[in-house]
Amino acid sequence: MKVHQFDVVVVGAGGAGLMAGLYASRSAKTAVISKLYPTRSHTGAAQGGIGAALGNMEEDRVEWHTYDTVKGSDYLGDQDAIAFMCEQAPEIVYELEHMGLPFNRTPEGRIAQRPFGGHTNNETGKPVRRACYAADRTGHMILQTLYQQCVKNNVTFFDEFQVIDLILSNGAAAGVVALELATGELHVFHAKAVVFATGGYGRVWEITTNAYANTGDGIAIALRRGIPAEDMEFFQFHPTGIYRMGILITEGVRGEGGVLINDKGERFMDRYAPHVKDLASRDVVSRAMYLEMREGRGIGGKRYLYLDVRPETVNKYAAIDGRTNPDGTPYTVTAEQILAKLPDIIDFCRTYLGVDPVTQPMPVQPTAHYAMGGIPTNIYGEVVIDEKNTVMPGMYAAGECACVSVHGANRLGTNSLLDIVVFGKQAGIRAAEFANGADFQPLPDDALDYTRSQLDGLRHGSGKENAFTIATELKTVMFDHVGVFRTEEGMSQALEKIRELKERFKDVRVSDTGKVFNTELLNAWEVSNLLDIAEVTTACALNRKESRGAHAHEDYPKRDDENWLKHTLVWQRDGKLEIGYKPVTITRFQPKERVY
Ligand code: FUM
Repeated sequence: MKVHQFDVVVVGAGGAGLMAGLYASRSAKTAVISKLYPTRSHTGAAQGGIGAALGNMEEDRVEWHTYDTVKGSDYLGDQDAIAFMCEQAPEIVYELEHMGLPFNRTPEGRIAQRPFGGHTNNETGKPVRRACYAADRTGHMILQTLYQQCVKNNVTFFDEFQVIDLILSNGAAAGVVALELATGELHVFHAKAVVFATGGYGRVWEITTNAYANTGDGIAIALRRGIPAEDMEFFQFHPTGIYRMGILITEGVRGEGGVLINDKGERFMDRYAPHVKDLASRDVVSRAMYLEMREGRGIGGKRYLYLDVRPETVNKYAAIDGRTNPDGTPYTVTAEQILAKLPDIIDFCRTYLGVDPVTQPMPVQPTAHYAMGGIPTNIYGEVVIDEKNTVMPGMYAAGECACVSVHGANRLGTNSLLDIVVFGKQAGIRAAEFANGADFQPLPDDALDYTRSQLDGLRHGSGKENAFTIATELKTVMFDHVGVFRTEEGMSQALEKIRELKERFKDVRVSDTGKVFNTELLNAWEVSNLLDIAEVTTACALNRKESRGAHAHEDYPKRDDENWLKHTLVWQRDGKLEIGYKPVTITRFQPKERVY
């Protein structure tokens, strides 16, 4: 066992982790630990843009961004946190630009912006160009830019180290335990402050945009150490994943004028969202797609629809919608412009489907994409552990593993890249400040025991079960019953199945007994996280007797503000789940019906 000491230890090297590491390292000795090589983190998969009311292409206002985010959240987002994020947005986008991020440009040289779902001019109700983008690889560019900045700032990286446990001492965070993939050796990272930036858990579902690594490790570790999770019932399905594979096709396609088409050749979104049509919020579009498919209008009767960005289609519907360029001339696109603005998705479709989006429509289906819930924090990234928002000393979280809550029941596209940089920065600043004013907590003598017991369980189980089989069964039941539409019966069946799978998981034994790059062992451990996360997600979804945002409960199809305008908290205590609530912060915008 090796012991390291740092003031601040950041777990995860996506956008939130790198931003936290960068800011913490400016005043504190900082390490970033990641199970991946940092630039392989899932932030790299974010395509279409980062939201900020720069107003570079047309009038836009921070307060419109704020209102759109509150409305998008179906009024479950905390309005003080949302206002803070949207106010920070322009400054932080310029900060990224000054770090070297290669944004697309307007002819005048300003950062270019495109429309995205749910972002509107609040006076006309029409889509507004708010997403700042680098072609369709904005997340990739953020990741590369921040990694370079961290290297320049001498952040110490521990790449391909899997964190297995959080060390607590005197009620405070005191470090983490990690397994080094290359050697199988355990390392203790003793720290004054710990930042979790471990990303999401889309791998709970069968069809997902998420990378293999997105197994909810941070949230699962925190739950096992008594930290609650917030609003876990809200998980977003992105409307446009490549059929059967789930790979993301950016909403930027619809931002550039692409439309969704059913088997009858109809552009059906005008029936579901007459004002903004294909640019409604994701929960609305995904539900509309499911309804179309359920009513037999999937392509060839199958469970997919077309996303059409062929120039002739874009130009036809732009004319019908009266869409204009910033100078008021009619909006039109050419094949060359589509290729220049959406190079990656065109490449993905050619590679994975043999479909060329410039001449053919893309087969798409809703795909598990983003966790609105996670480890509860305040706007400074401090982890809060109860209904009264009591702060756990030295413990921080940021990015998709955290719930601030700025996304409430449904996140708007582009707000996740914004969230990771805004709250990653806050967490880094606050963690360093805390560390600079604190002593190290003593390391408990048994700091390694829990990690060892988890790994030994997988090495010495009876071997009757296989982790991969369990994961496959889990993903299927979650996709079928805890997806876009949910019912009491389906969720109850899912919960029963998850609990059966958790029992069976005790009989897993890995066949690889080696130490060097034992990915079988780590993948099996990740399945234990998926199981825990699926259980809390399903239990919280079953508990919430209403429909709100991404939680569409068919037995309770209406939003019920009287009884359910509140956040869920869930704790894992003695192997059982306990559910509690805390109020939503409402400042300026009283809940009303959402119309898109
Ligand atoms: O559609 C997209 O490009 C995804 C962006 C996001 O999730 O914010």
